[in-house]
Amino acid sequence: MENKYIIFDTHAHYDDNLFDEDREAVLSQIKENGVVGILNCASSYESIDKTYKLTIENNFIYGALGIHPENADEFNDDVEKEIIELIRKNEKILAIGEIGLDYYWEENPPREVQQDIFRRQMKLAERLNLPVIIHDRDAHKDTLEIIKEFPNVKGIVHCFSGSTEFALECIKLGYYIGVGGVVTFKNAKKIVEVVKEIPLDKILVETDAPYMAPTPNRGKRNKSDYIAYIIEQIAQIKDLEPKEVNLAVNDNFKRLIGKDI
Ligand code: NI
Repeated sequence: MENKYIIFDTHAHYDDNLFDEDREAVLSQIKENGVVGILNCASSYESIDKTYKLTIENNFIYGALGIHPENADEFNDDVEKEIIELIRKNEKILAIGEIGLDYYWEENPPREVQQDIFRRQMKLAERLNLPVIIHDRDAHKDTLEIIKEFPNVKGIVHCFSGSTEFALECIKLGYYIGVGGVVTFKNAKKIVEVVKEIPLDKILVETDAPYMAPTPNRGKRNKSDYIAYIIEQIAQIKDLEPKEVNLAVNDNFKRLIGKDI
């Protein structure tokens, strides 16, 4: 793959064990290949610390700190305090995430627990005036209800899987739509429709690495330079030049976080 884009990956998990063997090699390879920035999103209590360290050790890695719905029972007052302290110490922590609701897996914490922890982390984002990274799987209705309770909070609905109608509702509330590898899959219909219908200035690109690798690398371990395939697919759907899409999505992210990074 040729290095022709300026890639900012708005959602990845380089703290994941799948990178334990060769993390440094992967990070230097993607840097060579046009990746200028990564938002590493914490998901568990353990990954808050790991994400923080990655932002200290790598100049192009930024962080989002929070507890994923599948680990909602790990969140408590102490964890909240820790997150606040880390954010105060380090301006490379740009968001609270990933937080939200996941009704897909039966072994996840009960829905009421997930909703409570989601609300507490939304409140935290409001207090700290930071955007949120939202994970919503099979929970569109409840996700929308909760984000409506916090009109001052903006963010990203990551790995967007809802309808165009839902996307437009999120956009109205100040959210951006995170588009990942799924848009390149042969059988992708919904997200292709969403990309077609929503304005380019509300789209962000992401990998969710090490998961969700785009075609032609579907099934392999994902990494941030594969965003080139996502940019090219969005360009095709919207009948634009890939370069134009690339620059637009980078501007969108800067607008959301309110900083030039
Ligand atoms: Ni994720």
